[in-house]
Amino acid sequence: MCQTKAQFVETVNKLLHCQKGAISKSEIKAMVTYLGEVTQVFTDTDMNDSPKTQTACGVAISPVQAAKCFEETIRTQMFAQGVANAIADKLKVEIKPVRILYAGTGPYATLLLPLLAASTEQLNVEITLLDIHQENITAVEALIAHFGLESYQIELVHGDATQWRPNREQQFDIIISETMTALLKREPQVFIFKHLVQYLRSDGVLIPEQVSLKTWLTPQSKQSKGDLLIGEFFCLDRERAQALNRGDDTCFCAELIIPDGDWAEHVVKLTTDIQVYRDLSLHEGDCSLNIAFAFSPYDAVLTANQAIVFKYVQPDSPDFSVIFPKPEWKQTNFKLPQPSDTGALGLVQIKRSFQRAYLIKRGERAATSEQEWQAELYLYDALSLNSREVIGKMYELERFTDFEKWLSEQVTPLDNVTINAINYQCLAKITDAGT
Ligand SMILES: C[S@@+](CC[C@H](N)C(=O)[O-])C[C@H]1O[C@@H](n2cnc3c(N)ncnc32)[C@H](O)[C@@H]1O
Repeated sequence: MCQTKAQFVETVNKLLHCQKGAISKSEIKAMVTYLGEVTQVFTDTDMNDSPKTQTACGVAISPVQAAKCFEETIRTQMFAQGVANAIADKLKVEIKPVRILYAGTGPYATLLLPLLAASTEQLNVEITLLDIHQENITAVEALIAHFGLESYQIELVHGDATQWRPNREQQFDIIISETMTALLKREPQVFIFKHLVQYLRSDGVLIPEQVSLKTWLTPQSKQSKGDLLIGEFFCLDRERAQALNRGDDTCFCAELIIPDGDWAEHVVKLTTDIQVYRDLSLHEGDCSLNIAFAFSPYDAVLTANQAIVFKYVQPDSPDFSVIFPKPEWKQTNFKLPQPSDTGALGLVQIKRSFQRAYLIKRGERAATSEQEWQAELYLYDALSLNSREVIGKMYELERFTDFEKWLSEQVTPLDNVTINAINYQCLAKITDAGT
């Protein structure tokens, strides 16, 4: 075993008390190795050997993948500290045992058992640990024995947290579940809280306390000033979970109005902010749960004063459908450059293609024939460029000179003979086809 029990406990104490991000990856790795040895669930096992479970409310990730979550250093630290603080706050005001329900423990019951193992005194808590995978329950049993936690009242339940009902009338002071990915996609967090919130005491706490999904307008150019918040399109908290439990799912639909302005140089970005407990929170850049999602400019039409519509759909693989305003095509009088028109690089077709992207960004109709499209693909191929990347840049940049500058940085310098040969082939693809 690479760590002793005492070393493990020492690192847990550091994890629980140090500043956000002050615990190193190697310290976390050593803890995971230790937990793997005790439970025999190892994070380096091939994921295919550890099956996930598809439920009606999303995917329950496999025991190995759940074990790997421990390695998300900042996530683990903020959640573990949040749970520790919530318990400490409850213990200050309760004389009776603090009842904790932890739904989706994974094999290591990461957010609770290390804390109990490191505690120098027996905490006045009663615990229910629940997971859909029997392998996790068996692993958690091994940890309870290993850390000598049998003196705690711990109930272990193998079951589905979106369906489970306590045997006796039971209300919890704290309900913990981290069964989510960024934008609340795929995993069942929303439906677990929707169901379990009925067992939360009126002054009880959900951990995380709040998951807030927001929409931003983000400038494509790094020089432009920061993101502009359009608004929040979904929030999961105690209030919303209770409404969902009553059958009120209005929060699953939202509309945000695109502010007044010209947003041709912006993309839409969706973010996930997590308030774990009080001031402990996770934001963009902290961990995989906060990965932001940006729509490419040609997927997102940003017509000012029109609505973007959000709907949480498909419970077996939950996700938000995002519907942008329909493009309102304006007839343009602008004449596109000819395919043979060139810029500083001497290449045909790109000036025309860039100008077309410029018009489309402004909602003006400018169609491309199949021959032209094929000619363009030939051109990118001849220059060893990724067509998606080139087109993305055309939409991103506002001036043709900037686009040509970017292009010249992507290709090795071309001599005139090569340029002429590429131009000839490209134009032939347009004219041979009779356009
Ligand atoms: C993202 S892992 C988190 C593991 C651990 N709590 C942590 O924070 O590191 C989610 C866990 O929830 C469990 N799970 C997912 N859906 C569940 C459900 N409907 N009922 C019970 N457990 C579920 C999975 O088996 C997995 O162990």
